[in-house]
Amino acid sequence: MNSRKILVTSALPYANGPIHIGHMLEYIQTDIWARFQKQRGHTCTYVCADDTHGTPIMLKAQQLGITPEQLIADVKKDHEADFADFFVNFDHYHTTHSDECREFTELIYNRINAAGHISKRTISQLFDPEKEMFLPDRFVKGNCPKCGEDDQYGDNCDKCGATYSPTDLIDPKSAVSGATPILKDSEHFFFKLQDFQEMLQTWIRSGHVQEQIANKLDEWLDDGLREWDISRDAPYFGFEIPGEPGKYLYVWLDAPIGYMGSFKALCDKRDDLDFDEYWAKDSTTELYHFIGKDIVYFHSLFWPATLTASNFRTPTAVWAHGFLMVNGTKMSKSKGTFIKARTYLDHLNPEYLRYYFAAKLNNRIDDFDLNLEDFQQRVNSDLVGKYINIASRTAGFIFKRFDGMLSAQSSEQSLLKEFQDQADVIAKYYEDREFSRAIKAIMLLADKANQYIAEKEPWKLIKTDGGEAETKDICSVALNMFRILSIYLKPVLPEMSKKVEQFLNIDALNWHDHQHLLLDHKINKFKPLMQRIEADAIDAMVADSKAASSKQG
Ligand code: 2FM
Ligand code: ZN
Repeated sequence: MNSRKILVTSALPYANGPIHIGHMLEYIQTDIWARFQKQRGHTCTYVCADDTHGTPIMLKAQQLGITPEQLIADVKKDHEADFADFFVNFDHYHTTHSDECREFTELIYNRINAAGHISKRTISQLFDPEKEMFLPDRFVKGNCPKCGEDDQYGDNCDKCGATYSPTDLIDPKSAVSGATPILKDSEHFFFKLQDFQEMLQTWIRSGHVQEQIANKLDEWLDDGLREWDISRDAPYFGFEIPGEPGKYLYVWLDAPIGYMGSFKALCDKRDDLDFDEYWAKDSTTELYHFIGKDIVYFHSLFWPATLTASNFRTPTAVWAHGFLMVNGTKMSKSKGTFIKARTYLDHLNPEYLRYYFAAKLNNRIDDFDLNLEDFQQRVNSDLVGKYINIASRTAGFIFKRFDGMLSAQSSEQSLLKEFQDQADVIAKYYEDREFSRAIKAIMLLADKANQYIAEKEPWKLIKTDGGEAETKDICSVALNMFRILSIYLKPVLPEMSKKVEQFLNIDALNWHDHQHLLLDHKINKFKPLMQRIEADAIDAMVADSKAASSKQG
């Protein structure tokens, strides 16, 4: 098999708040895919970073009475701990507030500018005269110009759904100081996205985005692309525009450049990775961005245009997923279903969630429902009741009665071959991000294994005269089935896999290890690999989430 060179990213989380389980859907999805590629022997690199710039982060730091640098350092520590505890295995986790990102952002801006894709003009925007800053739409509140509802944000009305410009609000107030904003002129810099209309039209129809996304993008393209405002005035936490003191680059310009910056920082530490090989225009490596469907516009229009304009390669594909729902509705603070990653970890094993996400994820953009009862039931019945059960019903006999030794020959070649033969089908499902299909195929095999054990009844056979040898064979077959399933589940359950490898007394399992069986081999004592989920733990997690959000108000 030819080894591929793959670079994978997840969207960069904002550095002003904690990771919640909605974020985790994406990081787990990406991590499973990246682990799968590595297990197959490919060179796959998974990078990410904190998205650190912009007005909300600047204001949050002010509120806390700390510098933005301090805030983003604190948040990064928390984010990294959450990811590590969910076994999200980044090759590198960076920050957009870094030398690497600054370097690429400036380079890209300069190239775009030199190529004539930047225009400048003066626009009038709401300005907070007390704070002396321009106000992003979200920082202006007032009465809806359509239905009159009070306390609405500057871009849309929660009540009637109208979208408008903040200057349309009736009786607008700055959400920062409470002052009445004034209109003020300022020169802005625009990226002429319309220069890339044709290029993007072709690009989105060349297999780089999912079909549902291409259809949505087509609607935007049909309306005609407009220039994109990429500058912000001081005070702003971000990168200054080269040669334009007091003017900053809008956070959404440098955010995706964070993918490059993070990878560059990794290349600087590793001799085997070459930045240009992955990012030069003629690169033959693969580049994939996993994102939520809300940021498709940025990744499938702005980003490929930005890269093309600055003479870098474009992504091989941008893969969007839907939003996470809990119990059928949007995550809700008052219901206790707005669950932070850390709150989850305080109560439940991360691999439960990894499994449940995998069991239901596909490659489309439909929303994902985490139904907490189904979650409990599914994990308990599949992982504990089916998969682990194979080992727990058979390992003890081998360990106690046969000195831990598996049979020297396999008695059920054709049955085991059925397990081995599923490798390609399951691999294809992982490759295509059809994880739910992979899990379904794996659990069908687990059913088959349990059926085999139930029919053979080794616990009876062992008590019969002369039944020992056959018992050993049966348990050896079962443990070989268990081992093959462990190979297939490894991208989803990395920590469990380590325990399995320890128990089976084997090296780290690669994908191709399914091709041979474990014969005449000494295993270690079986220890319970995972506990069942108790409803109490879920209830406690929800109660904690509710309490935390009522404290925040
Ligand atoms: O939507 C978000 O949470 C952004 N912070 C994602 C940025 S992804 C990339 F472009 F940096
Ligand atoms: Zn309204």
